[in-house]
Amino acid sequence: MQKTLQNKWNKLYSSAPKTLEKMAKIKTVASAFNTCIDSVVKISGKELADFIKKENLSLRQLENIEQKSINSVADLLRGIFNCFKKGIAEEWTADKPEMFEWMHKNLGTKKMQIGGQAGIIANTLALTDIKQVIVHSNTLSELQAEQFFDLPNLLSFNKNGDVEQASKINRDKISSIHWIIEFDKNDKIIIEDKEFVCPKSNRFIATYDPPLFDFVIDKNFLKYTNKNKINYFILSGYQALNSKQKGVKHVKDSVKIIKDWKKSSPKSIVHLEIASTQDIKVRKAITKYLVPNADSVGVNERETMDILEVLGEKKLLKECQENTCAVNLFKAAMKIKNKLKCKRLQLHMFGLYITIQDKKYPIKAKANLNGMILAATAAASKAFAGKLAAKSDILEAYGQNVSEIGLKELENLCSYIKDKTLLNKGMCEYKGYDIISVPTIIIEKPKTLVGMGDTISAFSLIGAR
Ligand code: GLC
Repeated sequence: MQKTLQNKWNKLYSSAPKTLEKMAKIKTVASAFNTCIDSVVKISGKELADFIKKENLSLRQLENIEQKSINSVADLLRGIFNCFKKGIAEEWTADKPEMFEWMHKNLGTKKMQIGGQAGIIANTLALTDIKQVIVHSNTLSELQAEQFFDLPNLLSFNKNGDVEQASKINRDKISSIHWIIEFDKNDKIIIEDKEFVCPKSNRFIATYDPPLFDFVIDKNFLKYTNKNKINYFILSGYQALNSKQKGVKHVKDSVKIIKDWKKSSPKSIVHLEIASTQDIKVRKAITKYLVPNADSVGVNERETMDILEVLGEKKLLKECQENTCAVNLFKAAMKIKNKLKCKRLQLHMFGLYITIQDKKYPIKAKANLNGMILAATAAASKAFAGKLAAKSDILEAYGQNVSEIGLKELENLCSYIKDKTLLNKGMCEYKGYDIISVPTIIIEKPKTLVGMGDTISAFSLIGAR
């Protein structure tokens, strides 16, 4: 790897502290809809094998995934095992309270933190000097409120419908807890004398969350965000919906919500963060109704492929599955952008972020570049320190080298699009669009991974200045 290229990018990264300071100019960000408590647990290959043994599951039974949802302990173990052996991230839902109880008893709640795209993004953004971050919470118990940072700019709605500091609210009795089951790269599991080595640190999420499944919306949040000027809306939380339980209707209902926001805050930017959505009908509805109505969309490599699947792009999907590299994912992102007419699409993959946007987009390419660099710094800091809990934490990884893996991916992408300016400056024009791409800082042994994509998308967009 050429050191000069790495040095060049290290220099480009020196913009991060200034970009962070500029976020003080932002007045209001609203983050909706899913907020929960994440109970984060680390599982070793050995512990997983013990659970599997207790359930008397054979390798054949373990590998036989009929549906990606949790109706029994066996399903839960199937999900974890599948992600462990492939080093991938997935979220499956459970529809029985018994599963909640099993996880409570067997996995515990030693490390709790705010969860859900809306919750994580709001919490992290509130660490910057943004004046107001308004967060939606499907339910808000005292325990859940305590997971929000004790910050005066982080607000939600209390029992009386008044806006109040989120961490001080006690509105509902029930708490929504999701289990985040993390595993480490190179950890091993032996099942029936066969050894499986985990290729990448990652996590499996098990979600039992009736208020989210029913898509309970706090009316006071809608009232407030329709009455006041909002600069950015962050939208997410559809991934846990089920088409058998009005999931498609909940997605469709959000179109009106977006339209109302655009009426009351015409200059606002509505960003949709796609998440791992197992129900195909719900996923289809998200791509059909929400993507074209949003101003910006965030995806990771997996979600990019999930969208290809519902668009019927079999050939491209196969290419991406066989080789999940920047070039193939870029082709996929271009396809999605064109087919779904989204104005700005951002892909965050391992080692590289790529944004494709319309030439007339209200955020300029250079501002996007700054935002993406800040996002990469924040994400690396989170992985490195295991948390983002204070403003200074955001720059914890500042000054570390840009990764060779990311630079190599960017090089390949530049050869594909035949443009060197992207390699040296991170920006170029391609087929009438602005392309912005940033190789990231990779932390060898990440202390945490959950919420990484959310942090990246939020800083890339809202830090774009
Ligand atoms: C999903 C999960 C939530 C987790 C989040 C992280 O929303 O339901 O538990 O915090 O993803 O991105």
